[in-house]
Amino acid sequence: MRSDIEAPPTHGVGAAARGRHGWRPRWDSRRSTPPETPAREASGSTSTPEAAVEKVNLEEKFSRFSEHWQPKVVGELNGQQVKLAKVLGAFDWHQHDNEDELFLVVKGRLRLEMRDRTVVLDPGEFFIVPRGVEHRPVAEEEVHMLMFEPASTLNTGNLRNERTVESPERL
Ligand code: NI
Repeated sequence: MRSDIEAPPTHGVGAAARGRHGWRPRWDSRRSTPPETPAREASGSTSTPEAAVEKVNLEEKFSRFSEHWQPKVVGELNGQQVKLAKVLGAFDWHQHDNEDELFLVVKGRLRLEMRDRTVVLDPGEFFIVPRGVEHRPVAEEEVHMLMFEPASTLNTGNLRNERTVESPERL
């Protein structure tokens, strides 16, 4: 059977019209190339180690909560967490002795006060507060922000008070 398929035809059409693939005309074998592109993309998307990983839409995640200063975990990798929070007003001065903390503003304007400087973040901007640096986030109007930090990071750092969230909810 196989030898029948691979054997060149013995009559009917000239050898010039026979490609490596038998009777397919040249134009047809070219047209067979494009389908390889989606096939390659498909194999790429399924080759990720964690098949269950799904993309995250920040707008959709932010639409699922409204409370302020209550970080939500929306992703985890390498012992770090991606958290989202809506904030309004001034938080408490605190520091993280062992964790650098990234703040990325998605909506609004965040003022990150430190003892020796203040950084103002607009949407699309981030700042990394180094470990051990006292800081206080302040939002005159509601801010939507993303934080990236080790899973061990407590939102109030060295403080424990009514704003401390021991185990942030996962969205
Ligand atoms: Ni902090």
